[in-house]
Amino acid sequence: MGNRTRLKLSLLLYVACSGAAQAATATPEQILDALVQQARQVQPGFSPSASRGEQFYRARQTGGKVADSCASCHTDNPKAEGKHVKTHKAVEPLAPVVNRQRFTDPAHVEKWFRRNCREVLGRECTPQEKADFTAYVLSVK
Ligand code: HEC
Repeated sequence: MGNRTRLKLSLLLYVACSGAAQAATATPEQILDALVQQARQVQPGFSPSASRGEQFYRARQTGGKVADSCASCHTDNPKAEGKHVKTHKAVEPLAPVVNRQRFTDPAHVEKWFRRNCREVLGRECTPQEKADFTAYVLSVK
């Protein structure tokens, strides 16, 4: 393979990889937008509410087997480091204002919504609950 071809190939690879990396990351606002769109599919005209989200964050639930609220592991303050109620492992703060990794990876967000909602509510969260929750956590300054 000539040097030219090699250069072209590595450029192609570079472009392909940076494209893939971009697809996996988003801003918290984009993730919130996507959740709002999903909520509007089940409730046309839905608009997210940080105060409903805060109530949901703190609410005592009864359906789950692991914890009875989101705050159980994430603490009363989304800016604080949390602690898993069972494993006692540290949980990095949820609020993007102090943790820039949060709400930037849609797959990670989906995975943990699914898991945590089951553990707290005994079911998946509705799209509206996810949008409100995210609106709250993003609103924390
Ligand atoms: C039993 C402990 C526990 C409870 C209760 C809990 N979480 Fe979590 N949560 C975690 C852990 C552990 C992680 C992932 C580890 C990490 O990313 O630091 C996480 C991460 C998340 C994330 C990922 C955010 C991101 O961008 O990285 C979301 C969203 C989330 N939790 C939502 C919730 C919601 C909604 C509830 C309440 C219904 C809840 N959590 C209750 C332990 C918990």
